[in-house]
Amino acid sequence: MYINNCTTCGERCHLTCEWQADANMVRITFAVIRKSQRGYIRLCVRRDAWCRGGCVDDIYGGRRPQMEAMLDSLVAEIRELRANMIAQTGFDPIEHLLARVKSEESMRDKCRRKGLPETPESALQKVYDALGVRIVCGFLSDVYAIRDSIANSAKFDVVEERDYIRHAKPNGYRSYHMIIRSQSGYYAEVQLRTISMDTWASLEHHLHYKKKHGGNQKLIVQELKRCADELASTDVSMQTIRDMIMSEEE
Ligand code: GTP
Ligand code: MG
Repeated sequence: MYINNCTTCGERCHLTCEWQADANMVRITFAVIRKSQRGYIRLCVRRDAWCRGGCVDDIYGGRRPQMEAMLDSLVAEIRELRANMIAQTGFDPIEHLLARVKSEESMRDKCRRKGLPETPESALQKVYDALGVRIVCGFLSDVYAIRDSIANSAKFDVVEERDYIRHAKPNGYRSYHMIIRSQSGYYAEVQLRTISMDTWASLEHHLHYKKKHGGNQKLIVQELKRCADELASTDVSMQTIRDMIMSEEE
């Protein structure tokens, strides 16, 4: 057991670890425990720390607290936009919202896929989705209203935008993607979609990544595309119904 700053809570904590040899690194699994009046308490378990030459190292170079602070400020900004929109229209534009720091393993995989060295510089400056927020909205107009609010926020610069709603991917994937940068220099990927788009993306991800398709590959791809297009058409109909209701209320 040894003492170090916990990269999750920032406190000086005792770390216990188990070692697991890898090709060129040693992987450690450690639990962070802190001494309290009642003895040691287990605070959190991290499975993604890597150890080189005896010092604890992670792909984000120990900057998780700052990254989490950026993610918190992004989520707080979105909550504020949401509250303003509810006050103005009486409608809640957001069904649900997820925020995450990309796991150590996924980030290392991504760096390898992109031919980048597995360093904090790659993870934080070359790959833009170490921080990610997914905002799921009820209606198409809400997606674009939230997009506009984020783009107009003084706290973040928009670095890149991809409208996979107006220009769906060939497989039928739809979503609005934004890469934003905070004043502190951290990048985040914001994905905005409707509930229908989110349902399709979750199921497609599950089917695509969990199973290797055999001879039915072509049919499966065609059917997934057909489902995506039917859901997109339903989104347009639901938007029309909502617009009709709103105009009757005026
Ligand atoms: P990378 O960011 O390097 O992965 O490539 P990119 O910038 O071209 O990615 P893109 O903006 O197309 O997609 C980023 C994210 O959107 C992915 O990590 C997924 O979460 C989601 N995504 C993109 N395409 C698909 C798709 O076909 N199916 C599903 N389920 N999700 C997708
Ligand atoms: Mg991307």
